[in-house]
Parts: sequence; structure tokens; C-alpha cells
Amino acid sequence: MSTPWHHRYAQRTQRMGSSMIRELLKLTQKPEIISFAGGLPAPEMFPVEAFEAATQRVLRQHGSQALQYSTTEGYLPLRELIVEKMGRYGIEASVDNVLITSGSQQALDLIGKLLINPGDLVLTEQPTYLGALQAWRAYQAEFSTVPIDDDGLRIDLLEEALCGGPKFMYVLPNFQNPGGVTLSYERRLALIDIADRYGVPIIEDDPYGELRFEGEHLPPLVVLDADKLNGRQYTNHNIPNSYFKGNVIYMSTFSKTLAPGLRLGWIVAPASVIQHCVMAKQGMDLHTSSFVQMVAYEVAKDGFLAEHVRQIRQVYRERRDIMLAAMAEHFPPGVRWTTPKGGLFLWVSLAEEMDSTAVLQEAIAHNVAFVPGATFYPDNDQQKNSFRLNFSNATPEQIGEGIGRLGQVLEKVLTPVPV
Ligand SMILES: Cc1ncc(COP(=O)(O)O)c(C=O)c1O
Repeated sequence: MSTPWHHRYAQRTQRMGSSMIRELLKLTQKPEIISFAGGLPAPEMFPVEAFEAATQRVLRQHGSQALQYSTTEGYLPLRELIVEKMGRYGIEASVDNVLITSGSQQALDLIGKLLINPGDLVLTEQPTYLGALQAWRAYQAEFSTVPIDDDGLRIDLLEEALCGGPKFMYVLPNFQNPGGVTLSYERRLALIDIADRYGVPIIEDDPYGELRFEGEHLPPLVVLDADKLNGRQYTNHNIPNSYFKGNVIYMSTFSKTLAPGLRLGWIVAPASVIQHCVMAKQGMDLHTSSFVQMVAYEVAKDGFLAEHVRQIRQVYRERRDIMLAAMAEHFPPGVRWTTPKGGLFLWVSLAEEMDSTAVLQEAIAHNVAFVPGATFYPDNDQQKNSFRLNFSNATPEQIGEGIGRLGQVLEKVLTPVPV
């Protein structure tokens, strides 16, 4: 007798929907489609030869040890490299504050496993990263939201939302996915202040912080938080020598700076939180692939990563500029968009009554694709009039061509039909 599995699924599965992005990506894999939908890095930037050489070195130098089980915390030299790298951004942590995860997606899942009881409220930006919503819905979180504008999270609306008593806030300060916007320095300070006053911790997700094309680097929330606790003042010319204290849990990834297929990310948190994450991670995968960690370390070390990131910034800045120029040329009046100073995405808003999912159907008929904005709202019914464009994955030629096609689609859907 075959088991009727649906009777046996746990209650938490009721909130697990298949991601619209995944369904869309299937649709947009046809070669004739120019897709601005996925958050994919430029594949031609993956340092394939460096990986080939590093793989050989790892196997020669470490042999069977590279293929053996390893510690949950992660490969020590890689954690040391991360500590050193973050130190350059003012985040002064020790290896005891760092856990290697299988992508920062796993870090989000770990946070959910560690912090969320069924029915707990999580405060997010609106819109926010879909993967976090997916991870935390499975732990039966409820969401409250605060909108973003060109300077990031609307701090003026934050206190009202905090009155709902969220367990934690989830914030993407740099080149937000999906909005492309960056939290201003003043708002960062205000956010840390308010979080402290209300006693609500912050999860800072920062996959794109290193991919700044222009403007001044802004201090991570985790640094400002440590400064506040230590009674110091951050100035841009004087990276603070703060130590990791922790109302903020910080996470980042090698997905956008080396390659997403590695599935390598990390969490920085107080050592006691890391110890709990380690226990939670053991039930998930024991540890992140030791072989992959060793190879990534071999590739990244001795300044390779920093130089590689410089090249990625140049390529993505060029693609952003081409996309912005093409939009200015081809998009009809009344369409608005953000101008990201880094990262991979920008956000387009149509007139309020428009539904971007319907626009997508027309776009796919014109062989071009994006992600409708509603996907990024915890409550999918809000704000149907926006969509996300990725500018890192398509070539400059494809960007020009694809935005031209999208311009035609927008002209068509925005033109009133004569009655
Ligand atoms: C904001 C944000 N967080 C986390 C992730 C997950 O990244 P990964 O699991 O590849 O490290 C992404 C990927 O696009 C992202 O945009």
C-alpha cells in the first residue's frame, strides 16, 4: 500500500510554498529569453583556472584529510581569513565568533532554528530577501514589515512596528536585495539606537557590501553596535578597533565574490551564539564540505580574493550603467527605478494600479524576464506594481537588447486600450 504522504507532513510544511523565483527560472531557461530574473553572478567572472590549480594543491598537500569528516565550526585557516577580511571593515572578531555555513542561506535557516518559535514575530524590510522569508516561514514565523525608500529602512516607521514585539529584525544595509538601496549612515546610527532602546537584536545580512561601485564605504551595523557598547564614535578615516560584542548577528557569503556553487557563507556572532549554531548545524549537515572550504581558502588567500573583487566591481558597475542608460532611453514616462551604488539588483516601480505579474507574462512573450515585486513581500498581496531587475548576469549586449524589449512591453501595457 502506498503511503498518503500529505497526511503525514508536519504542520510547518503548510507555510512552505515553492518559490516563484524557482518556478520562473525554469520558464526563463529557454535560450531565446534574456533573463534579468535570477540573482546570478556573471559566470565569466568565476576564476575557473584558479580553482583548478587550487584543487590540485589541496589534494597534493592535504591528501585524504581534504576528503575526511571535519569540525562543524569550519576550516580554521578559512575562518582566520574571514576574521582578517572582516577586520578591514572594522568588524573585530576572533575565530570563536565565526561559523562557516553552507551558503548564507544556511545561516538564515540556522537563525530560524535557533530563534523562532511557532508564531514568533520577525520584523523585516518591505520588500525583503525572499530566501529569508522561505527559511523562516518553515519555522512558523509571523512577519511584520517596515517599508524602505532610497535611503533604506524607514526609521521613522520603525518604533511603531517594534511595539508589536518582534523577536528580531532582519536588515540588509548594503545594496538591498531586491531594492538595490543602501541604508544611510544617519539611519544606521538611529537603527542601532532604537534596537538598543527596545532590546530587539538585529540580523545583518550583507552579501553585497564588498561590491560597492562608488561612494564611501559605510560601517556595518555590527561595528556601530560595538562602538555604541564601547562608547566610541566611528569615523570613516579611523576604522575603530572595536571588539565583537553583539546585539547584531552578521552574515555574509563567498557566493557573490568567488562563486555561488561553492555554497560557502559565514556567521559572525558572540561565541555563545556560535556554539548554539554549531549544535543546530550538526543536525543539518554535520559540517560544510571540508574539501570545498580548503579549495576556497587556497583560491582566496594571498590577496587573490581582494584583487578579484576589484575586477567584479568594475564589470558590474559597467553593467549597471548600461542598464540604467538603456532604461532611460527605452522605458516610458512614469516608470521609476532605484539607482544602486553597488550589488546586483535594481527595483522598478510602475503606476500603482499596475500588476507586474501580468506584465511578466507579456515580457516572457517578448523573450525577456524579471521577478515580480510581490514575491518579496511577506504578504504577497501588497504592492503588485514593482519588479526586480538583475544586472550582473547578462552580458552588456544582452542588457541593451533585453531592456529594449522590456521598454516595448511597458509601452504596450501602459498604453490605454481605446474603447
Ligand atoms: C540578501 C541575501 N541573503 C542571502 C543570500 C543567500 O546567498 P548564499 O546562500 O548563496 O550565500 C542571498 C542570495 O542571493 C541574498 O541576496
